[in-house]
Amino acid sequence: MIAPSILSADFAYLAAAADSVEGADWLHVDVMDAHFVPNLTIGPPVVKNLHQATDLPLDCHLMIDDPDRWAAEYAEIGAANVTFHVEAARDAVQTARGIRAGGALAGLSVKPGTPLEPYLEILHEFDTLLVMTVEPGFGGQMFMAEVLPKVRLAREHVRSGHLRLFIEVDGGVSADTIEAAAAAGADVFVAGSAVFGADDPGRAVEALRTQARAAMNV
Ligand code: DX5
Ligand code: ZN
Repeated sequence: MIAPSILSADFAYLAAAADSVEGADWLHVDVMDAHFVPNLTIGPPVVKNLHQATDLPLDCHLMIDDPDRWAAEYAEIGAANVTFHVEAARDAVQTARGIRAGGALAGLSVKPGTPLEPYLEILHEFDTLLVMTVEPGFGGQMFMAEVLPKVRLAREHVRSGHLRLFIEVDGGVSADTIEAAAAAGADVFVAGSAVFGADDPGRAVEALRTQARAAMNV
């Protein structure tokens, strides 16, 4: 699946941005609180209105402190997938259950420096694992290929039947990097600047999907 990130779109025209990528699978929505990351974006009111303005499933990536308190609300207002950071959560399992109870898929995200091994045993409580391939906070950064062993590890657990999960990569995904991520075992690809920085965002989505499909190893 390709999930264009609206972080790289024009925030005054979010509905138009969604329309420009109508062939995408998910629309990735970066929620930042200026505490967990040094950047500030949008919160529930905008997500709610965006959900009303597009048919695309919303993939909310919460880069916020205290996700235990806030995550379920994003499910209730219509997000299709709600991902929060394990580094910020106090009780990741309870938070995942709250998201699922609200009607969304639950996602767990790990920053580049956060190992996956300690969390393998709770991943069955989740539908999505988001492996950050940049430090969270800003679009347009360089893809960190050194993070791909975590994607491979997660893919091995899925392949061996221990887990059922979407494996999502986020940060620096472009025509130059998507094949490496797909070959490592990712099956959801977030792309901000590579989509909304293109002359034709819709065509950029199709091109990324074609590349990922050809390189995929799931
Ligand atoms: C960064 C965000 C990403 C960002 C990706 O913290 O989580 O979703 O939009 O942007 P690009 O694709 O430009 O790296
Ligand atoms: Zn993101």
